[in-house]
Amino acid sequence: MNELQMLPLPLLDWYFKNARTLPWRSEPTPYRVWISEIMLQQTRIEAGKGYFLRWMKELPDAASLAEVSDERLMKLWEGLGYYNRARNLKKAAEIIVDRFGGDLPGDYNDLLSLPGIGSYTAGAIGSIAFGLPVPAVDGNVLRVLARLRADKSDISSSSVKKAAETELRTLLEENAGTEEFYPGDFNQALMELGALVCIPNGAPKCGQCPAASFCRAYLQGLTGCIPVKAAKKERRIEKKTVFLIRTGSRFVLHKRDKKGLLAGLWELPNAEGHLSSTEARNWLCEHAADLPALSKAQLQSCSLEPLPESTHIFSHVEWHMKGFEICAEEPPLLYESTEAYEAAGLPQEYALIRSDDLKSAYSLPSAFRAYRKLL
Ligand code: ADE
Repeated sequence: MNELQMLPLPLLDWYFKNARTLPWRSEPTPYRVWISEIMLQQTRIEAGKGYFLRWMKELPDAASLAEVSDERLMKLWEGLGYYNRARNLKKAAEIIVDRFGGDLPGDYNDLLSLPGIGSYTAGAIGSIAFGLPVPAVDGNVLRVLARLRADKSDISSSSVKKAAETELRTLLEENAGTEEFYPGDFNQALMELGALVCIPNGAPKCGQCPAASFCRAYLQGLTGCIPVKAAKKERRIEKKTVFLIRTGSRFVLHKRDKKGLLAGLWELPNAEGHLSSTEARNWLCEHAADLPALSKAQLQSCSLEPLPESTHIFSHVEWHMKGFEICAEEPPLLYESTEAYEAAGLPQEYALIRSDDLKSAYSLPSAFRAYRKLL
């Protein structure tokens, strides 16, 4: 027997004693597993729980998700980042309703055909919710397998992931149907071991590992240098100047372009580069015609207070932001609601909103967290 074949029994025994209690684990319906797995691609388990419970309260099934407004969808996803994941959830829900009668399909290839569902997610839903003998290979699983076999291949390469999926599928098919073996438990046990014992940063807790007696990296003293992971490409740095524009009790939001980073989301108005206060005022004056309820005269006379610098890291880009706060007078026209504001014919790419609206209706990406706190 090789190391992989030796793994299931001790791993499952460890898992049943050590698995964390998680809301989607105690009731693993296909919909709940799907939503939790997509969320967990964006956040840690502890933070994911809150998002998951709030989502389930409001969108308990694919039918409700297919119907949700885009604005509400963004609000429920606010802070998780990579907002296309949320848009894909809604697109997939529409297909699930139209083509599969409202329930996620229990076929691996049907799952794979849905927007936003790749081999990992199809494997997780297939195995955990439907008991299919299909693998769910994420970074945790790749690390555990690399150490188990003292394999120095680069775990960020797609060929290594494909090979792991093929091997695990064989293992799952061999074990499926034997007593005490459920594919979803095995897949989750591998991930759980990676998250709790065979950890990525710092020394793994080999003293607690059910595979220590046959783990090659442990036995050869190689856990410090395995897994091997190619260095990521350096992120591009973008400098920005963010504007916190207040007019009385309201402030200005801008809608981002439909394409690219944070596509179509609300943001605080901002300019490329780190602008001096003179440059910032010029920028504002150039945009005065667009900025709701701010006249050029107001912009020329109002004060510009510098705000703290802030950095936000995306996967491929870093924003290095500085900011200015602009306090203008209460606008002459007070819009009592978003509808009234829109009815006034103001530009759709800008909004003048209250802090309360930000809590309840508008979502603002985490990139602006440092400035949002000031609102
Ligand atoms: N990480 C992502 N999904 C997981 C799961 N189902 N169990 C353990 N860790 C996970």
